[in-house]
Amino acid sequence: MKIAIGCDHIVTDTKMAVSDFLKAKGYEVIDVGTYDFTRTHYPIFGKKVGEAVTNGEADLGVCLCGTGVGINNAVNKVPGIRSALVRDMTSAIYAKEQLNANVIGFGARITGEFLICDIIEAFIKAEYRETEENKKLIAKIAHVEAASEQQADPHFFDEFIEKWNRGEYHD
Ligand code: RB5
Repeated sequence: MKIAIGCDHIVTDTKMAVSDFLKAKGYEVIDVGTYDFTRTHYPIFGKKVGEAVTNGEADLGVCLCGTGVGINNAVNKVPGIRSALVRDMTSAIYAKEQLNANVIGFGARITGEFLICDIIEAFIKAEYRETEENKKLIAKIAHVEAASEQQADPHFFDEFIEKWNRGEYHD
């Protein structure tokens, strides 16, 4: 199984540890970045994780930023993505079993590395329970999303990087 994993600059160390954990468990990891601690912005990597999943490169995705709120919000905007921001096992399993979530998100400054790893493993192993009700509900939710041509532009988020560079953001 292939897992796409992405993060922003403040949790790259946790992302690396999670990636090592997944590799040790025998999963293939597609690390979409960021790869170091240079300031960047979470939507870039949420989008990359989402696209890796929806284009079939990866089976599932994992997103991490400081709180998890930003990157999870971004990945959920990729059409076809159903991502759950979780801090516990129960929510992660629910997300997979009931909503067929294909990405899981964490605040790596909120939840500890070991718990993140255990939750991801439970998420991977949980199986979607396909019922008529779940199918209908997922399809209804999917109707809310709409693709935009702008999303194909690799410079879609450049303005935010420029703001970092101008010192307009502070961690
Ligand atoms: C840093 O950019 C921080 O704001 C981010 O990692 C995250 O916590 C947002 O949800």
